[in-house]
Amino acid sequence: MILKSLLRAQAARFTALDPLLPEPADPPEGVVLTAALAGGERVAGVVVRTIHQPGAPQTLWSTRDVRELHPIVGAAGATGIDALLKRWVQRLDPAGPDSACLVTWPTRDAESTAPLLAHGFVPLTVLAVRTTPQPVSPAVCSVRRATPADLDALVELSMAEVEYAALVGGGIVRDDAWEIKRGTVAQHLTRGDPIWLAELDGVPVGMVEAWETDAQPGSWARTRVRAGRWVFVNCLSVSPAARGLGVGRTLMDVVHTSLLGPRSAGSFLYYNPPNPLSPTFWAKQGYRPLWTVWELRPASALR
Ligand SMILES: CC(C)(COP(=O)(O)OP(=O)(O)OC[C@H]1O[C@@H](n2cnc3c(N)ncnc32)[C@H](O)[C@@H]1OP(=O)(O)O)[C@@H](O)C(=O)NCCC(=O)NCCS
Repeated sequence: MILKSLLRAQAARFTALDPLLPEPADPPEGVVLTAALAGGERVAGVVVRTIHQPGAPQTLWSTRDVRELHPIVGAAGATGIDALLKRWVQRLDPAGPDSACLVTWPTRDAESTAPLLAHGFVPLTVLAVRTTPQPVSPAVCSVRRATPADLDALVELSMAEVEYAALVGGGIVRDDAWEIKRGTVAQHLTRGDPIWLAELDGVPVGMVEAWETDAQPGSWARTRVRAGRWVFVNCLSVSPAARGLGVGRTLMDVVHTSLLGPRSAGSFLYYNPPNPLSPTFWAKQGYRPLWTVWELRPASALR
């Protein structure tokens, strides 16, 4: 009962904060935390623990042991988040070095930034959306759909992205990173998922992976974006020597022109704010942050 009214109040608060936020979904199964505020009101949260097995694709951008808090703080905002994080500190199970605490929260909730920072979280990732088309600029390179014969070039390019993401905090170059990347790229090619390859004078210099996703009730996408057909951009990478020439922009023009149609709600993707290249790049492409994924590694650093 209390949970239902907190969820309703949270939905109203989210809508007022940012019209592109979806209505909050029902909380997932997990360990329930509750906390009392100074005025006697209660807030709640659910902690879900996920263990990624060695060799899983997620281990290239995530720790293996993830504890994610889903706050249900109603209209409380910063005071609710602070109370819940204090409770989480008391209830946190022991964690090893390859672990993280995570909170995904609306980027525009500026007032919740202070308690998240105070408890040790950093804004490591954002989910950004683009709902308005932008003019297409002249191409600086040729772009074609990749085929299984391009596997080696695609693995090299997507590894360049993991390596860059690792420099700026998000990615993790595991010992088996090449094998993992090779496996996932090969799977996408076999399934016929769209991957485009950019070439300059016949030499591969960039790649992008993107696909359509339906944000249906119950789907993962529906917890992040409003109902409708969306394009999800999974990986964009330009080889180090070809960056800054317009290759990334040319690849994204192809993605937007090929996958977005009159029935599309828009496109979305993840990037790391500490990356010196991608925030500027994505803003120029018309993307703006919707959710911030606040993260803290290792989980035992929660304070
Ligand atoms: C981010 C990345 C894909 C952009 O591709 P790119 O081909 O280098 O970018 P473009 O040349 O098309 O640049 C488009 C815009 O991005 C921004 N940009 C590009 N290089 C930049 C740099 N060195 N510093 C700051 N902004 C830069 C600029 O705003 C530029 O527009 P402008 O030329 O009109 O000023 C590429 O730099 C890359 O692969 N980086 C490493 C991996 C990565 O971060 N991938 C994205 C993960 S989300």
